[in-house]
Amino acid sequence: VTDLGHPPRPEPLLAPVEKPGRQDWSTWPRYEAATLGLRNYWYPVLWSRSLREKKPKAIRHLGEEIMVVRADGKVHALHDRCPHRGVRLSHPMATQEFPGTWSCCYHGWTYDLTSGVLVAAITDGPDSKMCGRVSVKTYPVEERAGLIWLYVGEEPPPPVEDDIPEELLADRTLVVGKRTTRTGDWRFGAENGFDHGHAKYLHRRTLWTFFRQMSAYSLADTVDEDPWLTQIKSSFGYQPEYPGLGKWPRKMKRITYKFPPAVVSIRLPGILRVKYRTWNHYEWWFPQDGERHTYVQVIATRQNVLRRALFKLWYYTWVRWVFHGMFNAEDALMVDVMDAPPELLYRPDHNLIDWRRHVDDKARPQPTDGAATGSPVRVTRRRSSDELIAEGIES
Ligand code: FES
Ligand SMILES: [Fe+2]
Repeated sequence: VTDLGHPPRPEPLLAPVEKPGRQDWSTWPRYEAATLGLRNYWYPVLWSRSLREKKPKAIRHLGEEIMVVRADGKVHALHDRCPHRGVRLSHPMATQEFPGTWSCCYHGWTYDLTSGVLVAAITDGPDSKMCGRVSVKTYPVEERAGLIWLYVGEEPPPPVEDDIPEELLADRTLVVGKRTTRTGDWRFGAENGFDHGHAKYLHRRTLWTFFRQMSAYSLADTVDEDPWLTQIKSSFGYQPEYPGLGKWPRKMKRITYKFPPAVVSIRLPGILRVKYRTWNHYEWWFPQDGERHTYVQVIATRQNVLRRALFKLWYYTWVRWVFHGMFNAEDALMVDVMDAPPELLYRPDHNLIDWRRHVDDKARPQPTDGAATGSPVRVTRRRSSDELIAEGIES
């Protein structure tokens, strides 16, 4: 099996490497400004089962310190800092003294969990003048599909369902997965997810792909299937001849199972979907700060009770380790060591350009909109990704 009889490959678009030009992200100023993520979206910050009653968790999300706590069965989120002397409200010594409230462990300032308003300063007596005059910021928070969804932003929140892939909310859907913290810029993580050029090279030697014959190259277009951007592969080569060098790979695998190709899509604010035949894999990347991001992997499958039980067994004994662990850890290694811009994009990066442009055009309003990002005024004619690649993304 070599080429699959696809239409002839277009001529290479990329000018020789010595082509000079500034290769930065100023072509996509809103994307470039999103170092601390995209606000005004709901994100799956924790697994529901990880948050036990009155055992708060401190998270850093889009650059903000937030305490997430479950009290009387309901989840609340508050800015994780007592305005009195700056002790964390999530400190392990903090407690609940009255229903619906949370007390700072130092002097007992007590806040209403829903409004964040100070309702008692215990050590200042019941007539404390501070009450009602001080508050901590609270955040909208919801639980769906076994996950805790948090909203951080300036705009009124849309229904949480707007930011959750429908399938996760459907009856009979099994949702399993894994949440980790990774180093590196969240945008590198999301781009890596939508980067089909890396998968067939970086992931060639891992257990998850051991029985697959991966192609040596492929080309892909992007189609807008609102809200998803979907990759449509147009051409594959399995063992092509590289001019003057020979065939690559040198050997094809002997026994391989023919896996139906997976379909990869991405949507705002950075959700990847990989569609397999009977299940779908989702990933989220969102920054904790400029250097770390939260990485959430979810598998969803709609099945009957028996099949759900079998799938769960397969997930916890194999997929979780081999796919959500080993395989995707290879990506984490690259995202951690990447250093761009500057960058020089090549033909398979068309999809990344389409994603960046999509974020730039379609993301909800951001506080950084219109902020100086060091980028020039946007060019009046948006250039095609072919032109951008040929010019080394020069603006
Ligand atoms: S620091 Fe929180 S009550 Fe004093
Ligand atoms: Fe990957």
